[in-house]
Amino acid sequence: MRILITAGPTREAIDPVRYISNRSSGRMGYALAGEAQARGHDVLLVSGPVSINTPEGCRRISVESAAEMFETVAANIDGVDAAIMSAAVSDYAPVHAAEEKIKKIDEGLTLELGKTRDILEAVRGEFHFKGLLVGFAAETENLRLNALKKMKRKECDLMVANDVSRRDIGFDNDYNEVTIFKTDGTEEVISRQLKQGVACAILDALNDIAAK
Ligand code: CTP
Repeated sequence: MRILITAGPTREAIDPVRYISNRSSGRMGYALAGEAQARGHDVLLVSGPVSINTPEGCRRISVESAAEMFETVAANIDGVDAAIMSAAVSDYAPVHAAEEKIKKIDEGLTLELGKTRDILEAVRGEFHFKGLLVGFAAETENLRLNALKKMKRKECDLMVANDVSRRDIGFDNDYNEVTIFKTDGTEEVISRQLKQGVACAILDALNDIAAK
């Protein structure tokens, strides 16, 4: 299969030296890319800024902002069999990035933020992608309900949900524990283990639905 994987955080510029981002390390997406490549798939990684090496044999396009990631996915989704959207895309970005470094003033500073476009939602809605679609749901509460809502709204075949309030899994950690939801109503808990193992379970689930 040809698989497109988004990974890592995005950075939304405030000025030339400052940005808004999140705790994502990219390790889950890169584990998926490495494992998919090892299984013989043709992998394209669309990656936000991370400090890990590209798995051997994977192609990687590096992006910074949510807008750049959106455009890169739009330009590369044609001919893809499966898309796995594991990136932690910023939901908001400064409306105006200052061209010069913002100087310190005596008062506080208010930033105006605008919503970024949802890449995963656009995959079906705007890009008319017909392949297999895997979304992620980072939740701190009502994991099951929120994940199922996201799966429906974003028209995913699989939704991989994790509890990002836990410090022992998920963001910026080697370990993860996830629940994989399928559209047939079944769900599978992948207990806490290295992201490599979680990646294997996600690709096994993808394989199962591809075979149907
Ligand atoms: N996602 C995306 N583009 C965005 C925001 C999210 O592609 N601008 C994708 C993520 O890569 C992930 C899924 O949407 O696969 C869910 O992301 P998450 O942050 O859990 O949810 P949101 O849709 O942003 O909703 P909320 O923050 O309200 O939970």
